[in-house]
Amino acid sequence: MPESTNTAITAIARNTAGASIELDHVTKTYANQAASAVEDFSMTVNPGELVMFVGPSGCGKTTTMKMVNRIIEPTSGSISIDGRDVLSLNPNELRRHIGYVIQQIGLFPHMTIAENISVVPRLLGWSKAKTSERVDELLRTVQLDPGTFATRYPRQLSGGQQQRVGVARALAADPPVMLMDEPFGATDPITREKLQAEFLRLQESIGKTIIFVTHDFDEAIRLGDRIAVLSDRSQIEQFDTPANILAAPANDYVASFIGHGAAIKRLALIPITEAILGGSSEAVGPITVSTNESLRDALDALVLTGVPALGVVDAAGSTVGSISVARISAVLGTDAIGIAVEKRLEAVSEA
Ligand SMILES: Nc1ncnc2c1ncn2[C@@H]1O[C@H](COP(=O)(O)OP(=O)(O)O)[C@@H](O)[C@H]1O
Ligand SMILES: [Mg+2]
Repeated sequence: MPESTNTAITAIARNTAGASIELDHVTKTYANQAASAVEDFSMTVNPGELVMFVGPSGCGKTTTMKMVNRIIEPTSGSISIDGRDVLSLNPNELRRHIGYVIQQIGLFPHMTIAENISVVPRLLGWSKAKTSERVDELLRTVQLDPGTFATRYPRQLSGGQQQRVGVARALAADPPVMLMDEPFGATDPITREKLQAEFLRLQESIGKTIIFVTHDFDEAIRLGDRIAVLSDRSQIEQFDTPANILAAPANDYVASFIGHGAAIKRLALIPITEAILGGSSEAVGPITVSTNESLRDALDALVLTGVPALGVVDAAGSTVGSISVARISAVLGTDAIGIAVEKRLEAVSEA
């Protein structure tokens, strides 16, 4: 595995309340199993970093994650949080340090939403007043009105709302570390996209250290500061930023995981302002794109309108230049193809 040489990630100026996580040569072999579920896994997660584990079902993602909060004990190796061995932390301390969103949401059906969120505060012996204040605050944080939802039961909520409660519950004791096991897995694509966007905004403000498991590579690209692409026995095939993985997959396994559309996926990560814009006079038609959009948005608008170049406007609405397929491709370093496509587009728009 090529060790990540990308230093940009440590330079992210995010307000972090997170802790570092270090897994050192961790192996887990379940009883009566010949092969290890996790073999010799080593990784350092920086404070405030959001690391995605992505890999196929059964490759060991959940097992790796559950060893961090000691739901599963490693067979060998060590795990530390901010330099403290998790095996030396008592269970209460561990609960305060690590919020956990489990794979199937796992809300307690016979408890109200407020009671579900207060599970850890109650275990930690918080007062009623402090707990109920925290519940209201958390519900508002995940965009649920406390007056409406606190006294409801999980079955009276939609799947997306239940997911939000799961996140609120994990955040209850304000832990520096969050473990999230396919937290949005059970929701429909539209709800999922909404939850992802909300979650990104939330992380922007709370700056936790997060390990987030998914089998959805697009979700990994969208959310992750870094992505660990895992294969059988939790082997790390590549561990790097989304942009670097898309630009240079380490091997065929990673490439197959990216699937088709790598260029389009990369464009979604790059702001329009990264392109060298053309002159404003090159823009055709009334449709414009904004400087705060991505190159993917620009390409989408170009394909939709069929014009050779679109105007680019800044936040104040002034035109600052134009964007074309060739200029988008140039950012990816594939302008020869871009120019060919552009010629074709020109031919189409002239016809
Ligand atoms: N409690 C268990 N006992 C025995 N084998 C298990 C247990 N939990 C998981 N496994 C096995 O360990 C491997 C990894 O499982 P898991 O960590 O759940 O993978 P993932 O989360 O990537 O789907 C699988 O082969 C699974 O069958
Ligand atoms: Mg799993």
